[in-house]
Amino acid sequence: MAHPDIGEGIDRVDARVKVSGRAAYPTDQDHPDLAHAVLVQSTVAAGRVTALDTAAAEAAPGVLAVITHENAPELHEAPDRRATLPPPPLRGDRIVHHGQTVAVVVAETFEQATEGARLVRAAYERTDPVVDIDHPGAEHVRDPFGSDDGTGDVAAALAAAPVRVEQTYRTAVNTNNPMGPFATVASWDGDQLTVHDCTQGPSRTRADLAATLKAPQDTIRVLAPYLGGGFGSGLRTWSHTVLAAVAARRVGRPVKLVLTRKQMFTSVGHRPDTRQTLKIGATRDGRITALDHEAWQTLSMGDVNTETVARVSLSGYASPAVSARDVQVRVNVPSPGSMRAPGDGQGNFALECALDELAHELGMDPLELRLRNYAGEHPVTGQRWSSNDLRECYRVGAEKFGWSRRDPAPRSMRRGRTLVGYGMAGTSFFFYQSSCAARITVNRDGGAVVASAGMDLGTGTYTVMTQLASELLALPLGRVRMVMGDSSLPQAPSAGGSGLTGAMGSAIHAASRHLIRSFLDLVRDDPGSPLRGAGTGDVRVEDGRIVREDDGRGESYEEILTRHRLDELTAEGSAEAPGEDQPVVPTGPYAAKFAEVHVDPDLGVIRVARLVTAAHCGRILNEKTARSQLVGGTVGGIGMALLEETVTEPHTGRIANGTFGDYLIAVNADIPELDVHFVGGPDPTNPTGTKGCGELGIPGTPAAIANAVFHATGTRVRHLPITIEDVL
Ligand code: MOS
Repeated sequence: MAHPDIGEGIDRVDARVKVSGRAAYPTDQDHPDLAHAVLVQSTVAAGRVTALDTAAAEAAPGVLAVITHENAPELHEAPDRRATLPPPPLRGDRIVHHGQTVAVVVAETFEQATEGARLVRAAYERTDPVVDIDHPGAEHVRDPFGSDDGTGDVAAALAAAPVRVEQTYRTAVNTNNPMGPFATVASWDGDQLTVHDCTQGPSRTRADLAATLKAPQDTIRVLAPYLGGGFGSGLRTWSHTVLAAVAARRVGRPVKLVLTRKQMFTSVGHRPDTRQTLKIGATRDGRITALDHEAWQTLSMGDVNTETVARVSLSGYASPAVSARDVQVRVNVPSPGSMRAPGDGQGNFALECALDELAHELGMDPLELRLRNYAGEHPVTGQRWSSNDLRECYRVGAEKFGWSRRDPAPRSMRRGRTLVGYGMAGTSFFFYQSSCAARITVNRDGGAVVASAGMDLGTGTYTVMTQLASELLALPLGRVRMVMGDSSLPQAPSAGGSGLTGAMGSAIHAASRHLIRSFLDLVRDDPGSPLRGAGTGDVRVEDGRIVREDDGRGESYEEILTRHRLDELTAEGSAEAPGEDQPVVPTGPYAAKFAEVHVDPDLGVIRVARLVTAAHCGRILNEKTARSQLVGGTVGGIGMALLEETVTEPHTGRIANGTFGDYLIAVNADIPELDVHFVGGPDPTNPTGTKGCGELGIPGTPAAIANAVFHATGTRVRHLPITIEDVL
């Protein structure tokens, strides 16, 4: 490749097994004596169950068991109240959201279980649900992981500022809708539990199941080698996963539980809605002097889960006075979860729209305003960035987009009758890397097997890890095989937070170092080896061989193994999360986004005509899969901006549009040409040089579109999604 930091865009190594149907997704698991479980869900959103009549269901053909709160085993909360395990199901008669599981019916077939579920009669004592983030009676929570930080005297700086913007922005509930409905297949062999699950973290699901079932972790194995998409919905251990294990134990047979599409809306999380107030003070020449961001997000009853929405404002711009805090509002909705770019996705919308409003107020180019307030170091902590090429993102994005052709006056650009708007936004995404382990085995045939429990939710992890291991061992791509998605392999974090590439890559890097060390140990006193006596610092790998730096002599892995009569050599490696408390702060990716929208002045129809992204993601391991991540994220961002909204009926707490017919997701006809450019170099935080790029496509996209809608129409819309009614 022309650019040393951009890895070859090879096709996915798992493409063939996927398109030929040989990839074993959780739903594909079968057993000769497999039973099927179906959930019965509450039809009220608040109150309690007063009676459950299961007699008809139990008598129905094929029904093996009906499990309710009256006969369920005790399921435990995680002792540390960890956020990945929502409140356990079937613990009592209290109902806190519509669609809450009140029973599980297990039967010989899926159809019989479905019919059994229909026959369960539940009576409720109903109370009025709270579903509105603005409800005056709602409980407010300050989670210790929520943003609550700042520097300087923001109130005084705001009062003294010659120019002020103060506005409130709202984002809607959005629901993760991976193509594959979530499913669990659980089977017991004595006390050993095996679970095939739609999870983004086999190690984490195992830990959560162990906690809620009060079983030792080593009695549980969780597998997710393939997944039909996740978008964050696989980051918590949901009730249906736990209940599949409970059901399998109850009937003494393997049990499969597949959620319906409608159940996906109540059972695997959602992006919580937000209400955010931004206050910005600035000088007339566009220097930000004060910035305050308060973000409210909804949270379900009894749950612990938070997104750092306001955090974007703590690191976004070089303001001497800044403060940001997150507040959670408890409502009667299902448990939320992460949904691509959690927190930053919603927070960036408010911040970047407010910046656009400030630019308009100042009569300044929005791009110039951002450049003028570029944060050269962390505005609150004063730490230096590990790498930050945001200004290069702005430059390249503006040039590729043709930003200079923009007439600054709103409603000034037209194509025929169509109103044309140009809008832009900058964005970062948080840095995330947690501890991970990996194992590499080199066989006497010269091939390597690399294993880690982490999984590939469709982003390309199999592929980029194969590329990385192939580079680290100097083996051809075809000689490296990744084994992933199994909690019995070396522990790994969830595929989330755009953090698995850095974490697993660092672990593989460490394992490869240990493996080379092991080979050198083998030949330390070997008179037949040209590597005799060499240390790791004396050698490099090249063409499947370890060679001496000084004279280039060396030998292959096979030669060493053969001479020492070994079939294979294995090494493990692990990498910890980098410390945050350093003069240099590990820094996530950046992007600048430029959108052109077309608005029909009579019909109010908004179309995204073009969207250009310039992104700094550190080293790009695979140009093709990285681009796909940015493009896919941008599609999600367009949906968030113009289409996606989970509507909860205020009086019943029922989700009114929980189907693919009613919940709008961007389709091909909604998506224009998406242009992605990678800029900047590797990040020094970990040996992979990556910064994570999985979620960067989302934040910035809604703001760029909203700002373009303002430019096209002169109407400032401060909520998502922006619909026809907003601009008519
Ligand atoms: Mo992502 S929401 O961290 O899967």
